[in-house]
Amino acid sequence: MLPFLYQRVVRPVLFRFDPEMIHDSFVALGEQVGRRRAGRALLSGMYGYRGPDASVTVDGLRYRTPVVLAAGFDYNGRLLRVLPRMGFGGMEVGSVTALPTPGNAPPRMSRLVRSRAIVVNKGLMNQGVEVVAERLGGAPPSDFVVGVSVARSNRAEVVGEEEGIEDYAACLEHLVRNDVGDFYTVNISCPNVHGGESFSEPARLRRLLTRLGQVEHDRPVYAKMPINPSWDEFRRLADVVAEHGLHGMVIGNLNKEYDELLHPEEAPASYQGGLAGLPCRERSTELLARTREAYGDRFTLVGCGGILSADDAMEKFRAGANLVQLISGMIFTGPHLMGRIAGAWAREFGGQGA
Ligand SMILES: Cc1cc2nc3c(=O)[nH]c(=O)nc-3n(C[C@H](O)[C@H](O)[C@H](O)COP(=O)(O)O)c2cc1C
Repeated sequence: MLPFLYQRVVRPVLFRFDPEMIHDSFVALGEQVGRRRAGRALLSGMYGYRGPDASVTVDGLRYRTPVVLAAGFDYNGRLLRVLPRMGFGGMEVGSVTALPTPGNAPPRMSRLVRSRAIVVNKGLMNQGVEVVAERLGGAPPSDFVVGVSVARSNRAEVVGEEEGIEDYAACLEHLVRNDVGDFYTVNISCPNVHGGESFSEPARLRRLLTRLGQVEHDRPVYAKMPINPSWDEFRRLADVVAEHGLHGMVIGNLNKEYDELLHPEEAPASYQGGLAGLPCRERSTELLARTREAYGDRFTLVGCGGILSADDAMEKFRAGANLVQLISGMIFTGPHLMGRIAGAWAREFGGQGA
């Protein structure tokens, strides 16, 4: 009943409005609902996971379900109290940057409905690590896993490589100093409107991870990988990630290839930003499978990109994912999707949470 209601009634109404306005309204509403016991109970009743045990322990962290909200939905850490009621076992807050970042000029998001894709041009719009860390530090303790995605500030003053590296390090150091974040993800694959060198290049990535390795803490660290490189290029990056002792990788980020849209004619006239949703699915699953095959159990792998159904998620688990992350599926398919994935996973892989 709920999926039908979402797809036939709620979604058509929501999709009439500007996507960023809807996104911001949902985050604000979610924050309010999360503050009220009745609100949380209502959400649990509608979307809470009540199937067989779907808990899993990954790198010492116990997730109630293997479904994690990907970075980019809750930049500022406002939804910690509602997401566990919607079938999620964890979330990645952010990406968060050392300096507050106003984001790119609008439009920052557009929906390509027939292609089941979202054009994302947010430019890391977040309040900065000081504000976000204070908010996360003040949250009531819970068994919900809260990771933080760390990126370079999208500002002209940190365009240079050295400044960029120090900027990432300042963000991570602030989180560690304030004892915030159950795990960290280094977002090496996000465009910076102000230009500057990308860290999706082995030599630069090596210098970045060497510096971040000097920040002492005992939490798992993952790299958020680009999905556009060829397998050989991807492998060179994965080797650097392994060399530096990171626990694993999230595979992966947005797709930059607009001609991989199901309906390329839907693409906006000026191609700005990456694509979330369906155009990410094949590339990310293929890289994930090849990584598992090439590296065995060396890495924790988090499958992310184009999960629009429980079957899509199961494809990633069968390809070797320990966890999955999503955003677009929650929007296109509906908020019942996380529970569906948890149930499908529990039936095939359950009993790993002890
Ligand atoms: C609105 C939006 C903002 C995003 N911002 C970030 C970000 O700040 N950092 C990041 O690592 N990924 C970001 N992403 C990428 C997602 O984490 C994810 O990799 C991508 O959307 C593919 O997953 P999906 O198909 O389930 O949406 C963003 C995605 C969306 C839709």
